[in-house]
Amino acid sequence: MNGSIQNDKYIDDREIDRQLKIAGQVKSILSADERFSDVSPKYYIQTLGCQQNEADSERIAGLCALMGYEATEDPSKANIIFVNTCAIREHAEIRAISFIGEYKHIKDKDPSVIIGVGGCMVTQGHRADKIKHGMPYVNFVFDTGSIHRIPELTLSALRGQKRRFLTEGKFGIAENVPFVRKAPHLAWLSVMYGCNNFCSYCIVPYVRGRERSRRADDILKEARHLVESGAKDITLLGQNVNSYGKDTGEGVDFADLLRKICRIDGDFKLRFMTSHPKDASDKLIVAMAEEEKIAKHFHLPVQSGSDRILKAMNRHYDVEKYMSIIEKLKKSVPDVSITSDIIVAFPGETEDDFRKTLDLIDEVKFDALFSFIFSPRTGTPAARMSDQIPKEVSRERFARLLDLANPISLERNSRFVGRTLRVLAEETGKNDPSQITCRADSPRPIHISGPKDLIGNFINVKITKAETFSMNGEIINEV
Ligand code: 5AD
Ligand code: SF4
Repeated sequence: MNGSIQNDKYIDDREIDRQLKIAGQVKSILSADERFSDVSPKYYIQTLGCQQNEADSERIAGLCALMGYEATEDPSKANIIFVNTCAIREHAEIRAISFIGEYKHIKDKDPSVIIGVGGCMVTQGHRADKIKHGMPYVNFVFDTGSIHRIPELTLSALRGQKRRFLTEGKFGIAENVPFVRKAPHLAWLSVMYGCNNFCSYCIVPYVRGRERSRRADDILKEARHLVESGAKDITLLGQNVNSYGKDTGEGVDFADLLRKICRIDGDFKLRFMTSHPKDASDKLIVAMAEEEKIAKHFHLPVQSGSDRILKAMNRHYDVEKYMSIIEKLKKSVPDVSITSDIIVAFPGETEDDFRKTLDLIDEVKFDALFSFIFSPRTGTPAARMSDQIPKEVSRERFARLLDLANPISLERNSRFVGRTLRVLAEETGKNDPSQITCRADSPRPIHISGPKDLIGNFINVKITKAETFSMNGEIINEV
């Protein structure tokens, strides 16, 4: 068992070692395969959903690398294809199913291609069953608790053994699974997994299991390693980071953890998500105010501005409590960027409830708002509620919400125009490859022109123009 804590929330180290050994076996099989005498075997991962899935895909990539596969950006060139699915809303599931269908055509041309499907969607029994019976070309399925077993699954598939379905719903913490990051300067760091909150609309607790925090020392070790290997922007991940440490018995809460990571030598920014208003502490706000390395950005999902709906959502706070956190935050952290999530048309939401949400948005003035139309998720209480809102009403409310929130975003972004910000040059522009996309503390992308070798460095940028979802700037000098 891992370290001194005798707790079955950890997956036994010996099991991880066993998988890493199997990865070596896969590598030997592949290197003896004459198809790969001149070209290396390739892997492709299609990731849907949130940052936690992105982080999981980095582990899938790490295991693929260990098995001797190289990354490709083109699924039709891949020998093994993974779809890391999301289940948060129906739209995400539809996309996942359509990607799987697309990869079937690749396999039709080359039946030796291995297809593995993992993530939140397949962690639901009814979805795994659909794949089992309706998608015979999928070699294996693995739930979010079985990622470390990919070597074993790949070996079975390579040997042509029968299809495997790892959907036992055993959610442990797997330490020491290797990972490959997309860019050395950007890093996800999971500090905890799962969720105990059971918001009535949400599928996450069912597909990612109960809340479990990693040991502070393991996190610090990983953070040090990230910084040493060039990470400049580290985002700590957890479904509800504010309850970090409740189960470790170490007496280190999330604010303590942040401060410990800030003590690591090096020039880097620290971000975190997601926070739950019921647990967002004054201590955390003070840590953000005092610690230079923590980006002055707080993502605090409110979901609704109506107390009645918040209660039906099982959120355990009311609007007054939410506003008191916002007030403290604005007072303690000058210039903080605040972002939030909203669900429109939760069952039973009246016009009056919805107006209360609009009032809250108008009062807080969020830098960015991520709004979603309620999507009933099988197995959650909200999906069974009687008063579901008709589509026309949800769409109309959603449009009204954007009409209010977008000009506020523009106004918030405009406060930076004329100011010089220290930003990290993150990546080549997605829409305009001649540009570089940068980020300051605010989560909004800042587009600049400049030499690509700036990517991965902090630079000073003067903001020249604000848009609703982004900003433009020009380089002042490299820092
Ligand atoms: N329908 C719509 N939005 C949802 N979210 C979570 N579950 C649902 C659902 N069933 C939203 C919440 C959450 C964000 C990640 O996704 O706003 O904060
Ligand atoms: Fe879902 Fe609520 Fe947990 Fe967030 S806190 S993951 S919304 S159950």
